[in-house]
Amino acid sequence: MTAQKLQAVRGMNDVLPQDSGAWQRVETALREVARAYGYREIRTPLVERAELFTQSIGGATDIVEKEMYVFGAADERLALRPEATASTVRACNQHGLLHNRQQRLWYLGAMFRRERPQKGRYRQFHQFGVEAFGWPGPDIDAEVIRLGARVWERLQIGGLRLQLNTLGSPQTRRAYREALREYFSGQRAHLDADSVRRLESNPLRILDSKVDATVEIAAGAPDITGFLDADARAHFDGLCDSLRRFGLKFEINPRLVRGLDYYTGAVFEWLADDGLGAQNAVCAGGRYDQLVEQRGGRPTPAVGFAMGVERLVELAERAAPETPAPTDIYVLSADDDGGEAADISESLRRAGFAVTTHCGGGQLKRQMKRADQSGARLAVIAGLEGAGTARIKPLRSGGEQVRLGVDALVDWCRDHISA
Ligand code: HAM
Repeated sequence: MTAQKLQAVRGMNDVLPQDSGAWQRVETALREVARAYGYREIRTPLVERAELFTQSIGGATDIVEKEMYVFGAADERLALRPEATASTVRACNQHGLLHNRQQRLWYLGAMFRRERPQKGRYRQFHQFGVEAFGWPGPDIDAEVIRLGARVWERLQIGGLRLQLNTLGSPQTRRAYREALREYFSGQRAHLDADSVRRLESNPLRILDSKVDATVEIAAGAPDITGFLDADARAHFDGLCDSLRRFGLKFEINPRLVRGLDYYTGAVFEWLADDGLGAQNAVCAGGRYDQLVEQRGGRPTPAVGFAMGVERLVELAERAAPETPAPTDIYVLSADDDGGEAADISESLRRAGFAVTTHCGGGQLKRQMKRADQSGARLAVIAGLEGAGTARIKPLRSGGEQVRLGVDALVDWCRDHISA
């Protein structure tokens, strides 16, 4: 009987060696940009109590109703995290990170949602997010948006559209929810089943529906602008002014309501018109001024966003593909035990080169073929002329072979590899 070849779980991807360089480039850019803005990393577990998400994201959202991976005993339901804002708030409260302190935090890691997989939408995906706690004014909203824009700049990604809206105060949302309920109730017969259910539980979510007939009806729904109070307007105007000062273009989309319930005030999304297909939101976030208190902490204003790393890698590769060489130098071994090759390899590594050492011996001709396939810039043949000497062959430039003492080798490689 032949053994069955198992496949990965649908919607959960391997990142293969030929693609991991692109991921690493994006991850490095994200870490550097976060540092440049004074954000510090937080790492939280992949598994949390399910109620953390149910209570934070909202029981009548798609994420909680349909997409969470929940398991465990009835008295301790656990969930794979579908996002990390709730986890970050939980960690801040648990460790007292917000006691008389403001915090700028970032995270990068895997999230899980049982969505219908398609290009750009996966069941295990990765987010880079930032969360800023303790600043009530629009200057910090503008900062996190600017930080996102800096990521696009670093990765040479152009053409993203920034959409903004404000969801106002809880009173505003209450009044707006009522207005939506009234409007959609009049169209009840034409709504899809999910939306009919949401008439009672969460009519704001109907604006997010992807069902064609409902989208058409939603187009005629009242927008939130008429319900905003003076504070929410002033905050939003302040944010728009700051963005203009940064030279950031944006569109105001009064239908942007976001799929998570914790938002209060300004919300935003960056959309890609090219390159991502239907799943075109690369980054999304907003203010959530009540979540910290709702989860047991002191009242603390907060704002943040998360980017989908799969979507970001796709855009970064389209914008400026880069295939970093997997190795700088391939060291071949002319002697049988490979001792000289191992020693030379270590000296080169100590000098900062990425070195692949040939293992397993064999004819030099075959070893040279491996060297060629490795993508290295130089091949170094050890043990051919006796201890302390090596031969170097440039693999990409077609240059001549050179014979050198091991002492001179490092400098020679440095000159030729950084050139
Ligand atoms: P979200 O809109 O649910 O917000 O997700 C943010 C981003 O994660 C999306 O714009 C998208 O790029 C990516 N994403 C979401 N689901 C998937 C998926 N199934 N496959 C691939 N990528 C996906 C949040 O998660 C909030 N926690 C953002 C936030 C942080 N708000 C305040 N702070």
